[in-house]
Amino acid sequence: MARTAEAADPAGPGPGTAAGAEAAAEAEADAFIELDGVEKVFDVRRKTGFLKRERRQVRAVDGLSFTVSRGEMVGYIGPNGAGKSTTIKMLTGILTPSGGRLRVAGIDPSRERIRLAHRIGVVFGQRTTLWWDLPLIDSYRLMHRMYRIPDARYRENLDRCVELLQLQELLDVPVRQLSLGQRMRGDIAAALLHDPEVLYLDEPTIGLDVVSKAKVRGFLLDLNAERGTTVLLTTHDLQDIEQLCSRVMVIDHGRLMYDGRLEGLHEAGESERTLVVDLERELPPIEAPEPARVVRVEGPRQWLAFPASESAAGLAAGIAARYPLVDLSVREPDIESVIAKMYAERAGA
Ligand SMILES: Nc1ncnc2c1ncn2[C@@H]1O[C@H](COP(=O)(O)OP(=O)(O)O)[C@@H](O)[C@H]1O
Ligand SMILES: [Mg+2]
Repeated sequence: MARTAEAADPAGPGPGTAAGAEAAAEAEADAFIELDGVEKVFDVRRKTGFLKRERRQVRAVDGLSFTVSRGEMVGYIGPNGAGKSTTIKMLTGILTPSGGRLRVAGIDPSRERIRLAHRIGVVFGQRTTLWWDLPLIDSYRLMHRMYRIPDARYRENLDRCVELLQLQELLDVPVRQLSLGQRMRGDIAAALLHDPEVLYLDEPTIGLDVVSKAKVRGFLLDLNAERGTTVLLTTHDLQDIEQLCSRVMVIDHGRLMYDGRLEGLHEAGESERTLVVDLERELPPIEAPEPARVVRVEGPRQWLAFPASESAAGLAAGIAARYPLVDLSVREPDIESVIAKMYAERAGA
């Protein structure tokens, strides 16, 4: 209110110019997800012996502050137990924060969970929201009624998801008979039938094969481009982030460790990729151009580490020109090692 009044009266006193106030009001409207010093503490009771119990507090989220703007696709990464799923559960209203302030679309999730549910979609990779024993289409029909989605809207969204996620053949199959990749696509469609403005994805590509991963990624890119859906993505696969997110947040022990571009994270951690080459026969370690170097040899297979920022193609071509190459593959750095290097760098700085 104060901001509106200030903006309406350019000559008015108070901090900042009218333009500044307007920009601030706009930024506020744009901040679709807002966390300010959010905490979540779990009380854990553990049996430590006969009639003996120990009470312990787990600080899963510890003073977390960030904002996500409408239409952003943000990667949310960190080691196991970092507090990622807890954050997402608070953003949906499943869990109530122990402290701090949290808003999604201006709504306090744990206070108005149902109202928020109409505006968000959520996919937990480890747990399905579909009815296990029913054909896929029946779950969608139930959601149509539960969310009171207008018929035309429902049909349009369903048709679109079925086409883009290639679900046509699966609609009459009971969910329990679907493969992991099929079920995940089914779950993503279920989360989108009511046109949510934001989609939370908690490990949506975990355990998926390469083809399924590509389908899911392509779909999310289209969704974001066409509908401007805001996406918060938790993953262990750095390629998900590379292909989908211009911004990545790293969380560890419930705290934000990094917020910026993925490239910046690679630089901060000076992370390395690995080129795995299969030679025709066992050979001494390959003499690779600097700074690539052989880190492991096992029979005819050799592993070469090289900076993640450099091209694997150039390195592979150089090796193929001088060695009898049969096969090769590139391994991306895993999130744990990127983060470990980030810490090492900071400790050294
Ligand atoms: N319901 C719960 N009760 C007690 N501790 C929990 C509960 N949920 C999560 N935790 C603990 O909170 C921490 C963060 O967990 P989580 O958010 O699931 O991490 P992540 O998703 O990053 O792997 C972990 O130490 C975990 O054991
Ligand atoms: Mg988790």
